[in-house]
Amino acid sequence: MEKRGSFSNVRGFILASVGSAVGLGSIWRFPYLVGDNGGAVFVAAYLCMVLLVGIPVLLAELAIGRSSQSNVYGAFRKLAPGSKFPWHWAGGLAIITCVFILAFYTVVSAWVTGYMFEAIRGTFSKLETPAQAAKLFESLTASPRWVLPFQVLFFAATALIVAHGVKKGIERSCEILMPILGVLLLGLAIWGALLPGGSEAFTYLFKPNSQLTTRGLAEALGQAFFNLSIGMGVMITYGSYLKKEENLLRASISIVVFDTLVSFLSAIAIFGLLFSMGGKPVGGSDLVFKVLPVFFPRMWGGQFFAVLFFGLLALTALAATISLLEVPVSYLVDERKWTRKKAAWTTAAASFLFLGIPCALSPGPLANFTWFFRQTFFDFLMFVSSNILLSVIALATTLFVGVAWGLRPARKAITEGSSAAAAVPAVVWKLLIWVVCPALIVLTLVAAATQYIQP
Ligand code: PHE
Repeated sequence: MEKRGSFSNVRGFILASVGSAVGLGSIWRFPYLVGDNGGAVFVAAYLCMVLLVGIPVLLAELAIGRSSQSNVYGAFRKLAPGSKFPWHWAGGLAIITCVFILAFYTVVSAWVTGYMFEAIRGTFSKLETPAQAAKLFESLTASPRWVLPFQVLFFAATALIVAHGVKKGIERSCEILMPILGVLLLGLAIWGALLPGGSEAFTYLFKPNSQLTTRGLAEALGQAFFNLSIGMGVMITYGSYLKKEENLLRASISIVVFDTLVSFLSAIAIFGLLFSMGGKPVGGSDLVFKVLPVFFPRMWGGQFFAVLFFGLLALTALAATISLLEVPVSYLVDERKWTRKKAAWTTAAASFLFLGIPCALSPGPLANFTWFFRQTFFDFLMFVSSNILLSVIALATTLFVGVAWGLRPARKAITEGSSAAAAVPAVVWKLLIWVVCPALIVLTLVAAATQYIQP
């Protein structure tokens, strides 16, 4: 049997977790959600969700992982051995959710990687209007011959790294990827802020100009989960590779601070750039692909920055897909005694063949194949995973902590090694785990479900 992996120290763990958290969710999704949901009010709602639900759930997941030293499926069983309720099903659901997310996340990652190659080839220099850029995006993403090779490349890179194990594969690659990313992003943000549109970007992002809708509230929580990589077992799995004495509160705060910082930096960079070029944040979700390519060639060093920008996005996506693949792999290695190599390659191949291909073909050949609640397979999988499954699993996690594991042992596990966490009164933990988190999660689940049922 293979020896269970572990991070060399808390720094390695933080790098890997930040790598998982920072991704397309922070750089691509956060800016457009802010734009779509009224700017500063959404930013405030998002920060509240991160503080009230994000941090407690993150701490709970890390504590479950570290205390059980087990994969997501085994962890629930180990910590509540006598429980009649099948809590480990939540672990099973988390494993499936990771395979789902992997399937559509690699499609967007493939587009990003493809755009980096198009930037190198100079394709964007021929674009004159956003309408042309939109057309280019539609024709490229509709072509299986363009998308599939990049998607295969992405799956292969992910499997290769995960097959090399926790220390040599995950930790080492994040050690190299994360600092490069930080420097690139900081540079882009400073540049975006200094451009003529920089101050307009700040106003757009931070000055309240509308009211928050129910949908905005639901999106804020969904984004907090997706962005922090919680609600799908990633943090339970990474926490299980941590040694007992590490300070969980400090680790969680580092993850949240870095992740939030990256979200804000990229929003400033993207909007600063966009406003400077006279662009409008319309159809926000397509900003990165449909708008930016028109603007890059018009500025000094544009081609270079375009390659850099899409390269950066691809790198962040890779650290995220690594963490997604690690969840099923750690289950197969721990519980089914597979070798790491076999687990990594088999899961990646299965996710690609059965789910990844239909996702990749959704904008093109399968565009009219909308059996799934009038959505393409890609949209369906994305919505169900990020707006429903993540919330269900996070809810199960808080209930598990409150009911099955017990607040007292959970609090002990969380506060171990952290005097600051120990100073938080037990009643605050109780309130957060028993009332605030479940209530907010149920609220957003209902909001998400009604949105789904609407025609
Ligand atoms: N947190 C990642 C992002 O912001 C996405 C992700 C979700 C990664 C779930 C791992 C697990 O893009």
